[in-house]
Parts: sequence; C-alpha cells; structure tokens
Amino acid sequence: MVRIWKKSKPESDAASIPDPHNVPKHVAVIMDGNGRWAKQRGLPRIAGHHAGMKAVKRVTIAADHIGVKALTMYAFSTENWTRPQEEVDYLMKLPQEFLAIELQELIEKNVQVRMTGWREGLPAHTLAALDQAEADTRHNTGLILNFALNYGSRREILEAVKTLARETADGQRDIDALTEEEFARKLLTSGLPDPDLMIRTSGELRLSNFMLWQSAYTEFWFSNRYWPEFGEADFYEAVKEYQRRTRRYGGLK
Ligand code: IPE
Ligand code: IPE
Ligand code: MG
Repeated sequence: MVRIWKKSKPESDAASIPDPHNVPKHVAVIMDGNGRWAKQRGLPRIAGHHAGMKAVKRVTIAADHIGVKALTMYAFSTENWTRPQEEVDYLMKLPQEFLAIELQELIEKNVQVRMTGWREGLPAHTLAALDQAEADTRHNTGLILNFALNYGSRREILEAVKTLARETADGQRDIDALTEEEFARKLLTSGLPDPDLMIRTSGELRLSNFMLWQSAYTEFWFSNRYWPEFGEADFYEAVKEYQRRTRRYGGLK
C-alpha cells in the first residue's frame, strides 16, 4: 500500500476550501456503501471495506486541514454483528491494518485517536491496536479521530438510564434534579461536543442507531457516493453546505 500521509496536503485549491471562521467542531460520519462499491466492481464485500480505509485517511487529512476538532467515524454498529462471520472478522482486523500503516503519521500530525463503543465483544487484537493508538496519541492536542466501534445508541441510552436508576435506588442521586448535561455525561460520548455536522454516504437517509441523543440539533448532509469513493472535495462540499445553513435551535434568527 502506498503511504501518502506525510506528503498528503489536500489537493483542492484555496477557493474550494471552506470558510475558516465557521468550521464545525465535531463532524460525525456514517461511512456507508463499502459493500455496494465492491459489488459494482465484481469484488468481495471485504474489498470494499479495505478500500474504505483510504477514504478514512482522506477525510481525516481534510478535517485536520480546516481545523475540525473532532471527527467521529461510524465503523461498526452493534447491529453489524449479524453479518456473515467472515465479514465481521475482516472488519475487526481493519483497525490494526489501518493503524499499522498510519499510526506514525497520526502521531506526527498531532492527532488523538479514540474509540467510542463497548469493549466487551470486541476481539483482543482489535482492542490492543486501538489501545496502543490511544496511548501513543494521548498527549497530542490536535484533531480527535474517534472510531465508533461496537456502538449503538439505543443501548447507550438504556445503559445510562440503568446507571441512573441504580444511583437513585442507592440514594446517591436525586432523580428530580437530573439535568440534560448530567445525562449526556452518562453516554459513551461523554466529553465530546454534540456533532455539528453529520455526513452519511451511499444514498441512505437514516441514522442506523447512531448518536440518537447527540444529534438533536445536528445538521445532516447526505451523499450518493459510496464511502470508498468519498474524497476531500466531497468533505469540503459538506462543510460549505453546513456553513450556508442557519442553526436556530428552536428559536428565531
Ligand atoms: C459500511 O458499508 C461499513 C459498515 C457498515 C461496516 P456497508 O458494509 O454497510 O456497505 P453496504 O451498505 O452493504 O453497501
Ligand atoms: C451503518 O451502516 C453502520 C456503519 C456505517 C458502521 P449499515 O450499513 O449497518 O446500516 P443499515 O443496515 O443500512 O441501516
Ligand atoms: Mg450499509
């Protein structure tokens, strides 16, 4: 595989780059369409997942370049376990494969690698690769590159409710005093701002159990492109569209 990260400067000219003053702080991406991309080419589905890694890199470079603070990539949902074992096994190897090639450059680019999702159920080798990347980038201060892996938002909300119920039953909590901010701190995304912009590729127009609480006021942007063909220019187009929107949060502008 070619290493393009170090020399990787975004290819777009200055005119196509979004306004630096209104960049979304947190962008969440539902990377969809790997399987269809592969099928279209007569390739096995896993070839689509492999090709999708390069798109992860392109979008990370673009997000970093314009000053996005956090980029969450939905890589594996709690529902994706229902796929054929061979496909699941391959998806679980991707973090290692990606990080083996890219971790050094991520460290140099001051990127902080994180994971959001349930650890239980994930193979030890997958966790080891992510833990290593997280440890090696812990002191970095740049873009947070957050992989949502074994993530599902309904379960996330349910677990938060159970924790709160237990704390209430133990007499540690006055449930009537619970605020939205405290509730959000019980979610897996605690510490991250809500996504300002959510991108989904492949023409599907749904959330698929992604950040249900967190996306209450997120701006959505959909692309018909399959994830492996998604590039820097598409990412900038999404950000520019975001910059044209007026966020009202229920109030009046
Ligand atoms: C997205 O691509 C990657 C994951 C969900 C892991 P898909 O594998 O869902 O691709 P399609 O939607 O079948 O084309
Ligand atoms: C959403 O894509 C999950 C990820 C991108 C990881 P899916 O392909 O699993 O979603 P559905 O099944 O089409 O809703
Ligand atoms: Mg899909």
